[in-house]
Amino acid sequence: MSRGRLQDRVAIITGGARGIGRAIAFKMVKEGASVMLLDLLADELAQVVYELKALGGNAYSITSDVSDRSAVDDVVSLTLKKLGTVDILVNNAGISLADSLEEIKEEDWDTLVKINLKGSFFCVQSVIPIMKDNGYGKIINISSRASLGKLSRTVYSATKAGLIGMTRSMALELARYGVNVNCVAPGPIATELFNSVNPEGSEKTKAIIDAIPLKRIGRPEDVANLVAFLASDEASFITGQTIFICGGLTVGMAH
Ligand SMILES: NC(=O)c1ccc[n+]([C@@H]2O[C@H](COP(=O)([O-])OP(=O)(O)OC[C@H]3O[C@@H](n4cnc5c(N)ncnc54)[C@H](O)[C@@H]3O)[C@@H](O)[C@H]2O)c1
Repeated sequence: MSRGRLQDRVAIITGGARGIGRAIAFKMVKEGASVMLLDLLADELAQVVYELKALGGNAYSITSDVSDRSAVDDVVSLTLKKLGTVDILVNNAGISLADSLEEIKEEDWDTLVKINLKGSFFCVQSVIPIMKDNGYGKIINISSRASLGKLSRTVYSATKAGLIGMTRSMALELARYGVNVNCVAPGPIATELFNSVNPEGSEKTKAIIDAIPLKRIGRPEDVANLVAFLASDEASFITGQTIFICGGLTVGMAH
């Protein structure tokens, strides 16, 4: 494998079994990083690791839940044991829920906050001692364009907007230790999840594409390219920022 921008770096990627997380894992391995993937989906994780190894990559996985603090600590310990350190953390694991404001249940609120916000927070808390010791770290949180508001996504958008605030505060606190913290907020990205509710060629999907100035749905690889850049030393003067990757959807009306 040729030397890449992330040569010899070690990355933990949450939600790496499919969709955007899977694409980030492939991109980072192609750029030379070793990766530890964590996800709830054991079979899919094993398949991704198998494919990464077939490319010559150094990849491990652990079936784990980001919202379980002690499980997250175990993932970090295993990463130290297998890969020696942690240079990069990508908080990608997340769930969405379509909700009507009046029908949303308290337990749905708690679940989304627990996974999307607290889970990301636990992962950061767990890697911080290592990054401080190294005087080096890159943390990338995956928010959403829904953080700006999206119909029937009150709780989801609250958690994703929360990640943006968390990113800014963490960036300030960790800058003195050489740790960059940034946020990526994707627009519609054609993952399995997106395709299952927006079939290719359907009227609904055509309407979404029509509203996007660049006239296409994003690909997981689009997000992976941005995340890999933010994880690299080419982005060393960027911290506390949120970059929307949405084909221009969040900028305004194209006509
Ligand atoms: N696809 C989009 O259009 C889109 C848009 C904006 C933001 N996002 C965000 O990007 C991220 C990835 O989304 P995706 O579309 O690839 O979704 P996805 O459902 O395909 O992938 C998410 C992964 O996270 C895992 N996961 C969920 N809860 C977990 C937990 N508690 N612990 C560990 N792993 C867990 C899932 O098993 C899954 O493999 C999410 O945070 C999502 O909110 C996606």
